[in-house]
Amino acid sequence: MGVALLGTIAWGVLYLVNMHVTGTWNDSKEEYIAEMEQAKADVAAFVAKAGASVDENTVTVTTDAGALAAAKETFTTYCAACHGADGAGSETSVGPNLTDAYWLHGGGVKDIFKTIKYGVPAKGMISWKSQLKPNEIQAIASYILSLQGSGGPTQKAAQGELWKDAAAPADSTVTMADTAQVAMND
Ligand code: HEC
Repeated sequence: MGVALLGTIAWGVLYLVNMHVTGTWNDSKEEYIAEMEQAKADVAAFVAKAGASVDENTVTVTTDAGALAAAKETFTTYCAACHGADGAGSETSVGPNLTDAYWLHGGGVKDIFKTIKYGVPAKGMISWKSQLKPNEIQAIASYILSLQGSGGPTQKAAQGELWKDAAAPADSTVTMADTAQVAMND
């Protein structure tokens, strides 16, 4: 038997033992796939935790109980001093009532997110984007919206405009006028 043939046989035996008996080479492939899956999961978890994908254009209301409970604590720590512990303010509070339907800077979740993120520095409402992560701002904006209508008898008087959701159907007067216009043109 030539050396080359012996070598081939030796390789074949090694191959068979590894592939089918101990499964060593299979394992390393499966391990690689498992590691890749884990890496993907880690990245997804990081992005979710950092809330890196949430901004004032994409934010939606969260109903996650854990996030809202954490937001309540954040509100107590950072916001209650000016907006009241219940968010409703009082006649002497610095910040406006956040529980009524009137808003200075818009009452949609995107507006509220934006106000918290960038603040209204000239009017005494600071920007919170260096203290709070985007997902924390999302949670606190959602928490504020959950307080709608909860203000008690000592709540601060309304300021700003009565908020109408831009997604709500158009004003009925306009619709009727438009309909009349169409009818006249017919
Ligand atoms: C130092 C006082 C102060 C603190 C602390 C403060 N705010 Fe404000 N906030 C204000 C004032 C004053 C305004 C009104 C700004 C204006 O007149 O345009 C305001 C406005 C707002 C508005 C807009 C209300 C509207 O009618 O459009 C939101 C929402 C808000 N604050 C949320 C928060 C949140 C959330 C926190 C805590 C992370 C916070 N604020 C902390 C003073 C404060």
